[in-house]
Amino acid sequence: MCGIFGVTGRHSAVDDVLDGLRKLEYRGYDSAGIAFIDDNILQRHRLVGRVGALIEQMNPVNQSASIAIGHTRWATTGAVTEANAHPHFDISGRIAIVHNGIIEQTNILRQRLIDEGVELHSETDTEIIAVLTGMALDEGAASLLEALKSVLSQLRGTWGICAIHLDDPETIVCTRSGSPLVVGLSDDASFVSSDPHALARHTKRVVYLEDGDFAVLQPGTIDTSRIDRTRTKLQISTLEEVWQLDDLGNHPNHMHKEINEQPESLARCFQGRLDHESGTGRLGGLEMNERSLTAIESVELIGCGTAHHAGSVGVHMLEAIANRAARSHIGSEFRISQNVTEPTTLHIALSQSGETYDTLNVVQELNRKGADVIGIVNVVGSSIARACGRGVYIRSGPEQAVASTKAFTNTVGVLSLVSIMLGRSRSMDTAQGRRLVRDLSAMPNRMATLLDNLGTMDEAVSLVKDAKVVLFLGRGISSPVAAEGALKLMEIAYIPTIALPAGEIKHGPLALIEEGTPVIVLMPGDEHAERMVTSIDECKARGAKIILIHDEHLAVNGLADVAVPIPSCESLFSPLLSVLPLQVLSYEVALALGRDIDRPRNLAKSVTVG
Ligand code: M6R
Repeated sequence: MCGIFGVTGRHSAVDDVLDGLRKLEYRGYDSAGIAFIDDNILQRHRLVGRVGALIEQMNPVNQSASIAIGHTRWATTGAVTEANAHPHFDISGRIAIVHNGIIEQTNILRQRLIDEGVELHSETDTEIIAVLTGMALDEGAASLLEALKSVLSQLRGTWGICAIHLDDPETIVCTRSGSPLVVGLSDDASFVSSDPHALARHTKRVVYLEDGDFAVLQPGTIDTSRIDRTRTKLQISTLEEVWQLDDLGNHPNHMHKEINEQPESLARCFQGRLDHESGTGRLGGLEMNERSLTAIESVELIGCGTAHHAGSVGVHMLEAIANRAARSHIGSEFRISQNVTEPTTLHIALSQSGETYDTLNVVQELNRKGADVIGIVNVVGSSIARACGRGVYIRSGPEQAVASTKAFTNTVGVLSLVSIMLGRSRSMDTAQGRRLVRDLSAMPNRMATLLDNLGTMDEAVSLVKDAKVVLFLGRGISSPVAAEGALKLMEIAYIPTIALPAGEIKHGPLALIEEGTPVIVLMPGDEHAERMVTSIDECKARGAKIILIHDEHLAVNGLADVAVPIPSCESLFSPLLSVLPLQVLSYEVALALGRDIDRPRNLAKSVTVG
């Protein structure tokens, strides 16, 4: 959730680190800090706020240090204060450490240090690691690397850590366990980052650290080992995709850009993957032939937040198109359930970032059980993609707004292809497969038409923006879309929302409706449309204002206060369209309320803690 960036071997190290932090800031943004060694002094700057403020404070161009580490924070242990911002020092002020993750024994260790008379300056677990590392060196550890190994061998939790020491001013020591770190190498410098894309400006030669790896970086070199001192074989990879992380084009912010990129992003997702002739999908990353597809009896989808909602849409498609039993699970719940794995079950981990701890943890457990697990992921080379070993990239390109938009539609896009492939492996005939593939191939254009015609949603915005609560109703495949719309509005506009399958409304939630309560209803052209009218009437009778997202060919006169038509399509693919007005509405409500659209309060882009 936090961002780490480090450089050794460049006189622009401070500038490079601040630039790296700016690229990582979408991951966590409540405070920022940097430490560097210059003129034989270990210096540190930290503040509560954004990297931009840190850059203003520091005037980085005047700095000529050739080693620096930095951090952008999303608070876990300790409040959002300057004292808790990273980097943290040991007692002597000779070691600086930045850390992503959480140490479980923090309270015990803190008390032990206080009892020993140590004065701690923050509430963080990271300072404890720094202090213990300094103590290990005082007690005879041969190097910063050995000191860190001895400290971490006694700790439980998750970490991605970078450390520097004043006495070894060319070396960064880093290590990971449950929190991503990737090292970049150029001829004369070495870099480390929590996100590979922040390295792209400097190099494409990268080494993904695995859990338990330690790396010693010196200018242009890397030496890796495990905690037990065994050396590991260096695997240098090439960054396959370089994302332009800063480029907003003409858009005011990333969410606006990402919403409007969806037609293009879905077209990219489908490129080369639609087999019109055979009426099926072509997803080589699944590494499955017809026989292994036929053998799949059921599918379990695992993800969090928006990825989970996409998975729930997938359930409806897998049942209806592939005729397979399917379930969608929230990662954090699946982790703690006694799930039974079957050899004929395909598990699919869904994640934009590929770093979500709860989902990654499930993949690791499934691997331990020998289950069949694939990833449907956006970020190439991410931890989930690597842990799954095989799967499909959704090709959304960089998604930087905290609110996920284009990853939802592309994940649904890939799941629709998986459903067609599984359907074709058993009962579905070629004609039906062709019809579905043809309809799918028209979706990017339909999305573009819808976005072009939506305009602003002023009327809907005025109904929603001052509401105490907003209800979202769907049925069947629109139910998870309603949940996704509710999440979006809550996340960026901070308005309480409730999403329900419409049939549930009379079992309690109707009590919330009073004069003017906005109810957002999804009505694609499926078999549920008529019953939806009944639900709308129930709400209207209690004073609700109805915002209706409906198939353009349905007659909806007099039904809604605001009606938003969406292009007609195969109703199982309607989530690719019906979610768009919900994203735009959330965006416009948040804008009207003056919210920080890309960086809503208390949240971070990728949640790498459990
Ligand atoms: O990177 P992931 O797709 O694994 O992230 C999962 C959720 O944290 C994420 O979708 C979150 O719910 C979004 N902020 C919602 O907009």
